[in-house]
Amino acid sequence: QGNKLWGGRFVGDTDPIMEKFNASIAYDQRMWDADIRGSKAYVKGLEKAKLVTTDEMNQILQGLDQISEEWSKGVFVIKPGDEDIHTANERRLKELIGAPAGKLHTGRSRNDQVVTDMMLWLRDAISTLTENALQLVSTMVERAAARCVVHVTLVFLFPHARRLNPCLSHAVALSRDVERLQEIKKRVNVLPLGSGAIAGTPLDIDRELLRQELAFDGISLNSMDATGQRDSVVEFLFWASLCLTHLSKMAEDLMLYSTKEFSFITLSDAYSTGSSLMPQKKNADSLELIRSKAGRVFGRCAGFMMTLKGLPSTYNKDLQEDKEAMFDCYDTVHAVLQVTNGVMSTLQINQSVMEAALSPDMLATDLAYYLVRKGMPFREAHGVSGKAVFTAESKNVTLNQLTVEDLSAVSPLFESDVSSVWDYRSSVEQYSAPGGTAKSSVAAQVEYLRTWLKKQ
Ligand code: ARG
Repeated sequence: QGNKLWGGRFVGDTDPIMEKFNASIAYDQRMWDADIRGSKAYVKGLEKAKLVTTDEMNQILQGLDQISEEWSKGVFVIKPGDEDIHTANERRLKELIGAPAGKLHTGRSRNDQVVTDMMLWLRDAISTLTENALQLVSTMVERAAARCVVHVTLVFLFPHARRLNPCLSHAVALSRDVERLQEIKKRVNVLPLGSGAIAGTPLDIDRELLRQELAFDGISLNSMDATGQRDSVVEFLFWASLCLTHLSKMAEDLMLYSTKEFSFITLSDAYSTGSSLMPQKKNADSLELIRSKAGRVFGRCAGFMMTLKGLPSTYNKDLQEDKEAMFDCYDTVHAVLQVTNGVMSTLQINQSVMEAALSPDMLATDLAYYLVRKGMPFREAHGVSGKAVFTAESKNVTLNQLTVEDLSAVSPLFESDVSSVWDYRSSVEQYSAPGGTAKSSVAAQVEYLRTWLKKQ
């Protein structure tokens, strides 16, 4: 057990199956950079505490820089016994600089080291995802802005989405996701290093110095909590689940609009695939995969929360399960945001097809509002308008083909000015309250989001 960080008290060898089962190097090597940054800060803390000399510190720093170069050039060699990234880097440091390497871990545990690495990694990951999400919000807002007229048609075609601009509504949800992600960052930005294995450190390590070196906003308050909690990871997994739930909803909307039957939008070839059997097919695989990924990340979130449930205080090896969940959710959201941006910026909107699909029965609510404006209580007006729909259906005509006589048989409040109801555009325009569908309301929403984007 000589090559292990913990071999001293062991006489028997680890079973090879256990060795493999226990190791996390296959995936935690992704944190090599964070691990080295953390160690570089830590050795400065050791020097200040006079636990290493300045010369030893410099040797360690140089060695760590060399390891960093090996990783970035892709030439770092992982050796048998490199249980995790922390073990691998320390083993390599010893090969490079000899004895002083053995001082680097003074007063540190992999328990505070691993969670420090993860917070450093997650902080960078959050910055990247924020950029990706902002790019997508911007694409969606600009497409919505350029298509104010088209949205009028879409609003009508989808009674359930009556009061929503389909594109803008998704952009608004995503803007909240960006804000949520910034909230998480506050809690990620708290330094656990210096918490030791469980009880902190008795070695006079200046945690404030470590905080400054690693540019964290604060230091963790309690060593047992710091080494044993993964709240930020869970928050991130939940964030990924909610963000992809929003995008799966959008993908589903777009999928419906892009079917042959609807043909309201056409996906660009760049984001479609074909069928190996049916030559005519153009599949919306980008949208189907975007829709699917919400399930995948939520599975990760639920799975890791189940791992946490019932754990006792402080570090338990169960916590090693956090990393694959975190990496997988990051990779998935990173890809989905980029693909969605591609889909959104290249899809074609078929305005004439949408216009052709408009039908007068969509104006039945407006017919009720006509009566409301003449003093009828809405509940009654709803019933009257419903009767008008029934009359039209019985006569096999469209709602706007009913004569004033037909309508006044349903209610005497109907007069010749009822013809003004049969205008789709003015119907959309009447929803002029903030958040509504009128051009002025949509323009205000676009302006709000543009200003919001500038502030991010
Ligand atoms: N590879 C471990 C993990 O990812 C590092 C921490 C090991 N700590 C321990 N007490 N065994 O969680």
